[in-house]
Amino acid sequence: MTTPSPTSASLDALARDILARNDRGGYTVPNEKVYPFQWNWDSAFVAMGFAVLDIERAWQELETLFLGQWDDGMVPSIVFHKPAANYYPGPSAWGTTHEPPTTGISQPPVAATAARVVFEADPDRARAEARLRALLPKLVASHRWWHEIRDPDGTGLVAIVHPWETGRDNSPEWDAPLAAITPTVDVAALRKDKTHVNASERPTDAFYNRVMTLVEEAKALHWDGKAVARSLSLRVCDVGVQSILVRADHDLHHLATLLGFADEAAALAGWIERSTKGFDRLRGDDGIWRSLDLRSGKLAASVSSGSFLPLYARVGTREDADHLAALLDRWGSVTSYAVPSSDPFAETYDPHRYWRGPVWLVVNRMIVDGFATAGRLDVADRIAAQSRELVGRHGFCEYFDPRTGDALGGRDFSWTAAMWLAWLARPDAGHAVTG
Ligand code: GLC
Repeated sequence: MTTPSPTSASLDALARDILARNDRGGYTVPNEKVYPFQWNWDSAFVAMGFAVLDIERAWQELETLFLGQWDDGMVPSIVFHKPAANYYPGPSAWGTTHEPPTTGISQPPVAATAARVVFEADPDRARAEARLRALLPKLVASHRWWHEIRDPDGTGLVAIVHPWETGRDNSPEWDAPLAAITPTVDVAALRKDKTHVNASERPTDAFYNRVMTLVEEAKALHWDGKAVARSLSLRVCDVGVQSILVRADHDLHHLATLLGFADEAAALAGWIERSTKGFDRLRGDDGIWRSLDLRSGKLAASVSSGSFLPLYARVGTREDADHLAALLDRWGSVTSYAVPSSDPFAETYDPHRYWRGPVWLVVNRMIVDGFATAGRLDVADRIAAQSRELVGRHGFCEYFDPRTGDALGGRDFSWTAAMWLAWLARPDAGHAVTG
């Protein structure tokens, strides 16, 4: 007996219900059990979901995220608005001084792109302009932080100093840079994530010990932005963060120009030019973009879902899109659902373990935008159809097995619900995240 697949209307209702349940009043937790605070790029995608439900709430999602912004412009990966038990590493592990408490690291800067989505969806122009006017200087400060503090020598490549800043936490791309670190802490007993989710779907203890060693290094530098950027034991240009930043630069440049922020628009144009050139240094001999270890000078051995994101940044040509489409076809010969987070032919591939294989819908959203705008609508349509099928058959989980589509990680996930509402439930809305 087969179970009838849920209708689009019932999925809509479920997605709305997930956002309502995960709403903590002005901000949304990614998932009740595993992630009980406000996460940076999750909130940006969630704001896109709210933009089709409740514009006021969509603006709020971005505004509460910026309550965590540091004086130097950094928008932290997590804002700990209220205490919650059962989470590690919580506020005390980071040793930062901000109020509300935050981590000391950032996450992929999707916020400016989300602000453009919300701005364009807001039917009340006066409100939209007022809200954006207040938010825009903060967004620009966060981009300045990436381009100046995280690229202190103006190379056009921004550095991440902790794998969690990539949002693709344990991708095989970070294996070599992490292997160079000698752990100085043992945090296995402090972890809480394995009590909520099957350990085989989570990163290993060896990984946690190394990433928490990086936190200790930054604490010893009192989280001074430039000192951290110049001296932490891990410094990588993640092709994902670099792409998401440059795309968000474009969106922010558009908004700044529209509202008459001329100096900000000029600064953004400069950063776009410099960072677009930077992508040349990320190309492997095969023409595929990869992350670059800024300490060793080596490109990552493995190709990941991040390698598709330069198209989303409006970098590259139609030929690049064709080349990436061919790569995706190869991956499709051993998987049923695009886009696996990591090369399924690589030895490091693990279709169940977090960012080492599973499919994430927020990444698919950006990849689809890139293929569509580069002229490969066929590929964009295919990824969108597979993404729709994943939700229809397996629900709103955190991530999916690329072979079977099986639900993995946390359930009732906010950004998966938001991707349904903002994207998959609206096949007529077009493939580009912003115009
Ligand atoms: C995990 C993911 C990260 C995400 C967070 C909350 O840490 O790797 O990208 O932001 O969960 O969903």
